[in-house]
Amino acid sequence: MKHEKKMRLAVFASGNGSNFEALVRAQRKGCFPADIVLLVCDVAGAFVVRRAQALRIPVVIIEPRSFGSRQDFESAVLVHLRQERIQAIALAGYMRIVGSVLLKAYPNKILNIHPSLLPAFKGAHAIKDAFAYGVKVTGVTVHVVDEQIDHGPIVLQKAVAVQDTDTLAVLEKRVHTVEHTVYAQAIALFSQGKVVIRNRRVYARFSRQSVKKGNRGKACLSR
Ligand code: GRF
Repeated sequence: MKHEKKMRLAVFASGNGSNFEALVRAQRKGCFPADIVLLVCDVAGAFVVRRAQALRIPVVIIEPRSFGSRQDFESAVLVHLRQERIQAIALAGYMRIVGSVLLKAYPNKILNIHPSLLPAFKGAHAIKDAFAYGVKVTGVTVHVVDEQIDHGPIVLQKAVAVQDTDTLAVLEKRVHTVEHTVYAQAIALFSQGKVVIRNRRVYARFSRQSVKKGNRGKACLSR
């Protein structure tokens, strides 16, 4: 019997959860060899929880204010991750700094998606900041998480043009649409265990073509 080993992934999110949902749908289309087995949410009423319930993904809601320190909070999160034998984490709109407990437990195993071409426009309002600055090109970055905010080695980036006719809302929508594809692509690379990080540089030890072949659904890499 063929045994396909899939990476057990947890997604961390705090809010709307469109990236979470896009990842679950990409997984179900066979876009990457990883199973999203858990949503970790730090905000009880977040819409992402409703999405997870609708998609039948188990949820852990764990609010930092119930803990004395970031370390205590993350240690409690870690208990759940260990219970579920989580091997890697995808942050998807997780509005919290990742601290030493999680970074030590998952070295180079935590990804984040950010709605700009890093290192430009770090922080929580990247699309708005880029729009206000008047850039002609912005984009999306998926990076490995390290101890600094929006900083770790870059796995993938994709540019998004800003049109003269764009409103902020229009640009936001375009950026989010790109995010939903690019994150699945990054997780496809990552979950095949062939991503190598050397001096901040991320190398994928196979061609884009072989990633394409590895996927069952063409839609995974399009756009
Ligand atoms: C996304 O733009 C993501 O890049 C950023 O937070 C936003 C989350 O959106 N880190 P959603 O909750 O996935 O809809």
